[in-house]
Amino acid sequence: MPAFAASLVDWQRRHGRHGLPWQGTRDPYRIWLAEVMLQQTQVETVIPYYGRFLARFPDLPALAGATEDEVLRLWSGLGYYARGRNLHAAARAVSVRGGFPRSAAGLEELPGVGRSTAAAIAVFAFGQRAAILDGNVKRVLARRFGVQGGKAQWGLAERLLPRRGVRAYTQALMDLGAMVCTRSRPACERCPVAKACVARRDGRIADLPAPRPRKPLPLKRATWFVYVRAGEVLLERRPGAGLWGGLWAFPETRLFDAPQPRKLAPLEHGFTHFRLRAQPLLCALRDAGPRAEAPGRLCLGFADAAAAAVPAPVRTLLRSLLAGGTD
Ligand code: ADE
Repeated sequence: MPAFAASLVDWQRRHGRHGLPWQGTRDPYRIWLAEVMLQQTQVETVIPYYGRFLARFPDLPALAGATEDEVLRLWSGLGYYARGRNLHAAARAVSVRGGFPRSAAGLEELPGVGRSTAAAIAVFAFGQRAAILDGNVKRVLARRFGVQGGKAQWGLAERLLPRRGVRAYTQALMDLGAMVCTRSRPACERCPVAKACVARRDGRIADLPAPRPRKPLPLKRATWFVYVRAGEVLLERRPGAGLWGGLWAFPETRLFDAPQPRKLAPLEHGFTHFRLRAQPLLCALRDAGPRAEAPGRLCLGFADAAAAAVPAPVRTLLRSLLAGGTD
């Protein structure tokens, strides 16, 4: 085995992670689910979602047979909801074709499965020899080899693959990136390849990988109309494609005249490309007023609303209303 892989695998055996919930299985369904949840999301955040998801959808037919709304309800809070929608679409596609593709190239055809995720599934589920290159691995390679840029890094990732033992090697790369070669203050004293590390040798740990140019993110504002009547709150389903597509949230346009709308504390939420500042307006409707239900609209008690497929800041607001009442 090449020296880089051998050092990593030896380190992983002694210091890596061995008890993660998606380790110790070769079930492609469980591995695919974990890898999709782990895209842009930390292990500690994923673990409780993964458990709840598997309890409700223990296998592919269960997930393929669910509605998108149910899937998004369990996904709610994990963010990047296109992942949840793609997961559901992929489950149906795999179900139709009668099983998961075994090759990285075949897996990459599934909605929501990019090149690195496809490789991870092919490695862990099917023992294929395929290279991963997620954010953590990009950082490890940039530092250890001084190589940056997509094409060069993919080539390097492929050349570094050992002939055998790709499972242990792949887990080792992931663990090193997450536990030792962290973005800020990497623990080089615990790194098995520190002696050969280009970034360390050249004093470039902070510039490798090149920090992203940090423009302040634009601020978008929204008004949330929180229509309340008789202990129920009105939610609207957001259009499929955009932000929080398919999730339930407060209307952002006025639907009814409420006697004295009251400003609640604003909420802020960070997205990759902008910040959202939402100003909730509590609008109490008279009990005898018109019913709000229409296609794509629901009136739910606060507790049921908080348990629905809603984005995290909507749930935060619903919970505070639940805890403090509406006055
Ligand atoms: N990040 C992405 N995939 C992972 C995995 N299988 N284990 C730990 N962290 C990961």
